[in-house]
Amino acid sequence: MNQDSVVYLNGVFKPLSEAKISVLDRGFIFGDGVYEVVPVYCRRPFRMVQHLKRLENSLAAVGIPNPKSAAEWKTLFMEMVRQAPYEQQAVYLQITRGVAPRDHGFPHGVTPTVFMMVNPLKTPTPEQIEQGVACVSAEDFRWHRCDIKSISLLGNVLLRQVSVEAEATETVLFRDGFLTEASSSNILAVKKGVILAPPRDHLILPGISCEAVLEFASMLGIPVETRPVPREEVLTADELWLTSSGKEVLAVTMLDGKPVGDGSPGPVFKKMWAYFQTQK
Ligand SMILES: Cc1ncc(COP(=O)(O)O)c(C=O)c1O
Repeated sequence: MNQDSVVYLNGVFKPLSEAKISVLDRGFIFGDGVYEVVPVYCRRPFRMVQHLKRLENSLAAVGIPNPKSAAEWKTLFMEMVRQAPYEQQAVYLQITRGVAPRDHGFPHGVTPTVFMMVNPLKTPTPEQIEQGVACVSAEDFRWHRCDIKSISLLGNVLLRQVSVEAEATETVLFRDGFLTEASSSNILAVKKGVILAPPRDHLILPGISCEAVLEFASMLGIPVETRPVPREEVLTADELWLTSSGKEVLAVTMLDGKPVGDGSPGPVFKKMWAYFQTQK
């Protein structure tokens, strides 16, 4: 993405260099907004309906009126996809509560700010797919509404930095001894051929890729147990996977410097990865 790339801001398509908002925007002042990232393969959005539903849920949870109908969002998405110069895209959409004098309470009569941009979609490298990736773990100190796809991402940013500094791909999070997710991915464990999935409650983002993977599991006949997963079970898992719009499904083969399973992507991962490729 460069300065001439077309972005969408409040009803107008314009070059990135000309897209400006007020410093009083509540997204800037309070992180008061929500977002979505939709992966696009060969100019076809992956699971757009589910992304729009999650957007609606996030908006409702924070009390920002949805500025567009699902049909209007789809039209806008497809226009962004059409204008972008890449085939594989990550469409970013952000809505903030709008511009108002700084005061914590919701302002009256403001119009939400709507911003969209398209970046090239970065998926795992062939080496990452074949060898898996290393992760580190940390205590999940974020708030208790991680189910909202909020732009207030300071907790996630600080937790991701832990793995950046360890030269690892992700930070796997535990809250009170139980697996939640990673700093910008969901996480699934595999033990004796069964996928163990942390409950989709307020402590994790309901990932669209994770939902897809669990659906694919049922098609492939792989059993899934959705329940709290204690740290000990993660440390002795046969396989550990990250899922996200950018990572699709990716094997974690080292955690905190120790091998996961035999230290290479496992057979269940290989089956799932291959199936995912046919569905995107
Ligand atoms: C904290 C967190 N969990 C999970 C995910 C994965 O969600 P999705 O599969 O919808 O990309 C993300 C994606 O950005 C995330 O930020």
